[in-house]
Amino acid sequence: MSIRIASLVLALVFLTGQQPINSQSVSSHNGFDLVDKTGNIRKPADFRDLYQALGVYTPVDLNNNTEMHYTYAPPGTAEYYRKNGKFADGTVLVKEVFATDHAQLTTGDAHWATGTKVWFVMIKDDKGRYPGNPLWGDGWGWALFKSDAPDKQVATNYKKDCLGCHVPAQSTDWVYVQGYPVLKSK
Ligand code: HEC
Repeated sequence: MSIRIASLVLALVFLTGQQPINSQSVSSHNGFDLVDKTGNIRKPADFRDLYQALGVYTPVDLNNNTEMHYTYAPPGTAEYYRKNGKFADGTVLVKEVFATDHAQLTTGDAHWATGTKVWFVMIKDDKGRYPGNPLWGDGWGWALFKSDAPDKQVATNYKKDCLGCHVPAQSTDWVYVQGYPVLKSK
């Protein structure tokens, strides 16, 4: 490559603020791409393929029914968290709730995920961007989607629909981080 072309490429990289190689940075999966002007939240498409898995919870009810709760976040989320001890502005957390089945396998009584029941979505908001919207507050946007209408956001008020259950995790920014080993510094 001639010096002239090389410096043109460098100038373009500089002007557009793009990093040429690191296309997997947090900013390329910015949660605010999923939000319209008034704060309505969409569920990210293809998060199973594009996001990283943070971890899984498997609550068991009194009838021994198990659910599997997988939590995903955009690439770079865990690395940022390990470095800074917090989630980056715009971080998306998707919790996918599965029904399960189980059987005696060669490992023991093994439970596995079957159909999706619901998706919970949180988007980190450091700036209080949507003060009039009842699904935004306490540093996050909060949303819920059910499998019978997977694109329809159905939560109405995060203080009623979400926050009470997240109080035990308040000191870790409302997130149950203990279940996500990848967030811990090695
Ligand atoms: C019945 C209590 C309950 C309600 C209601 C609830 N959550 Fe949670 N949520 C939890 C618990 C407990 C966890 C972690 C353990 C688990 O999933 O079993 C969790 C985990 C999450 C996660 C994964 C990140 C984390 O904090 O570990 C997201 C995202 C989430 N919830 C979003 C929401 C949103 C959005 C709402 C409201 C629309 C909501 N939750 C309502 C109890 C609740």
